[in-house]
Amino acid sequence: MLRALLLESLHPVATSILRSDGVEVITRNGALDEAELAEALQGVHLLGIRSKTQVTERVLDQAPDLLAVGAYCIGTNQIDVSAAAHRGVAAFNAPFSNTRSVVEITLAEIIALTRRLTERDKALHAGIWDKSAEGAHEVRGRTLGIVGYGNIGTQLSVLAEALGMSVVFYDSAEKLSLGNARRMHTLDELLEAADVVTLHVDGRDGNAGMFGAAQFARMREGAIFLNLSRGFVVDYAALRDHVLSGHIAGAAVDVFPDEPKRRGDAFESDLRGLPNVILTPHVGGSTEEAQEAIGQFVSGKLLQYVTHGSTTLSVNLPNLALDERTGSHRLVHLHRNTPGVLAGINKVLAEHEVNIEAQLLSTRGDLGYVVTDVGSDLGPDVCATLGTMSQTIRLRVLS
Ligand SMILES: NC(=O)c1ccc[n+]([C@@H]2O[C@H](COP(=O)([O-])OP(=O)(O)OC[C@H]3O[C@@H](n4cnc5c(N)ncnc54)[C@H](O)[C@@H]3O)[C@@H](O)[C@H]2O)c1
Repeated sequence: MLRALLLESLHPVATSILRSDGVEVITRNGALDEAELAEALQGVHLLGIRSKTQVTERVLDQAPDLLAVGAYCIGTNQIDVSAAAHRGVAAFNAPFSNTRSVVEITLAEIIALTRRLTERDKALHAGIWDKSAEGAHEVRGRTLGIVGYGNIGTQLSVLAEALGMSVVFYDSAEKLSLGNARRMHTLDELLEAADVVTLHVDGRDGNAGMFGAAQFARMREGAIFLNLSRGFVVDYAALRDHVLSGHIAGAAVDVFPDEPKRRGDAFESDLRGLPNVILTPHVGGSTEEAQEAIGQFVSGKLLQYVTHGSTTLSVNLPNLALDERTGSHRLVHLHRNTPGVLAGINKVLAEHEVNIEAQLLSTRGDLGYVVTDVGSDLGPDVCATLGTMSQTIRLRVLS
């Protein structure tokens, strides 16, 4: 029987999905340190974590039964994914289960900033009746500039058009524009066209500091700026200067270069106390709906991997999308990607008169992944021979 250890108070659906497939599930509320985790992983095949549990090479070396790690979140920096792959441990995450949540908060903030809602709210809480239309606008007819037209950027594009906004976008990769959105060929072109600029780029190293004084200076007078992507992408001191000068009329920021580790920790930023600036503690994707969607998505991926060998969207193994097996057994072989492995596997199968009904190979860097469906029984010799091939990292037989 497969056993899973789920840490860090995952959504209950993560547990129920695994249990419904016969997996024994142990849950714990908090994260575990390295030594505790290594001990807790004895006899455990599936591990579920959020961002606090560190799955290091040392932990992986002490977890011989582990088949897969599910990061029930977006990032996977807390897992040594390369060390995991080279020990035959698949890693999965939930790259787009909270996309809608980010899109909704972005739209809410665009409207709130355009109407200067936070200022009205603060004044009234302070007992001041400041009824005025000054500086308050509709978003209808305004131009939204989306930088990074990926999962979040594209969905935002569709919903913003439904609100009557004109959408322009800039993406460093070739992207299909949705609806009436217009592609800009440079970031500068977008900055000159947009009343609202919102960043949704990914966290690649080259994006560090991509938005600074020069880019703020290019923005329209009275424009609004949002960053819900990554903290290190923006020079916030430059944003502060442009807000204080009145050039930027408002901003919303959800991500920061140095974020406090724990709930209740102190928060320092150049942006505190600025007018018409909404600051949120990296909650863009944090909704109960997103937590549930993440629980469903990652538990589903773990089950697909252990029962069918499917590695679709794994962050560290070659990706193969697989359904039910066609034969009576499925051989799942992860190996070092050197010439002749496939021929070697098939030679062993032929020598033991095992007929191949279907076979798929995928490679990723120095790793190869072959999945073979066979119609006849496999004697112990077949698995022993395949398991001891010099390139074999992990061999599993799914029956
Ligand atoms: N605030 C939150 O809570 C929260 C939640 C989820 C995601 N995010 C972050 O939002 C960002 C977008 O997420 P996603 O799922 O849409 O990612 P994605 O990978 O689907 O899209 C990113 C897009 O940005 C483009 N891009 C990268 N660098 C660029 C550059 N310098 N200029 C122009 N385009 C560039 C890429 O080509 C890609 O199309 C990520 O950084 C992610 O970490 C934040």
